[in-house]
Amino acid sequence: MSVEIKVPAKAILFGEHFVVHGSYALVSSVDMYLYAKAQQSKKGIYIESNGRQVKADYVLSLIERILEGEGAEIYVKSEIPPGAGLGSSAAFHSALVLASYALLGKRPAPDQVFADVMELERHVHGNPSGIDVWGVLYGHYVLFKRGESPRLFNLRPVRVGLVDTGERRSTKDLVKAASDFIANSPHTRAMLELSSELATEGLSSIRAGDWIRLRYLIRANQSLLRIIGVSTPKIDQLAATMETNGVSAKITGAGGGGYIIAFPLRCVNGISIRATEIGVAGALELNGFYTGKQS
Ligand code: PMV
Repeated sequence: MSVEIKVPAKAILFGEHFVVHGSYALVSSVDMYLYAKAQQSKKGIYIESNGRQVKADYVLSLIERILEGEGAEIYVKSEIPPGAGLGSSAAFHSALVLASYALLGKRPAPDQVFADVMELERHVHGNPSGIDVWGVLYGHYVLFKRGESPRLFNLRPVRVGLVDTGERRSTKDLVKAASDFIANSPHTRAMLELSSELATEGLSSIRAGDWIRLRYLIRANQSLLRIIGVSTPKIDQLAATMETNGVSAKITGAGGGGYIIAFPLRCVNGISIRATEIGVAGALELNGFYTGKQS
């Protein structure tokens, strides 16, 4: 028995960092993929990612539990750059969990898959909100708030630009620094409310096809992220150059570098912009775990 699994990347469109503190955030899938091939094995569990053996105990023990004593070889190839805000770890962990269940011919409920992937994510990110995991598992557009069931919106895919700042960073360190800033600010409540509003308004704009409004909301969100210290001089400079060319851009994910997301998709002199589509099908749907329930 062998299985193939395909998992998209994700981009946070609105609300990163504030989502950790209970605000709404909007995440979508991105048409950049991680692939896993798995087959049963008599020699225990062997996992390889982009040609390198994965030996981490936390990964092996969870996969062993899902496989209920069966052996497996899982080979992962990824187009998703690591440490860039595009959900590479959520996609990797999701692929391992989905491949393991699929090898046993099992299709557990989304909540079970989410719980397993989150167990792996916590080892890497400390106290992740879970937004990355819903982004890659559900795909399309997910309005997410901690403690509430995520709401899936199967709206039109939108073409956007992704720009690599070339800077790489640690999500954990940035979340800690941003959390301290948010918690100690005299404007905590106002910032949390504003971030929530940007996420819900962003969703309405995509739903209505109001692209001018979407652009302004992206610009406003980038300003808010800049205030809490997760932008960089390079990102500020890229965003300013794009803005003078009628394109708005913001951090996607933890910030501190990584990729920035730009809208509308348009050429800007001197900046290498990768054309991509957001709002595509997520991993549950792509791999037959889920039939596509939506809000
Ligand atoms: O791991 P990244 O860069 O995709 O960022 C995750 C989003 C944060 O809001 C910064 C953290 C979280 O757990 O929600």
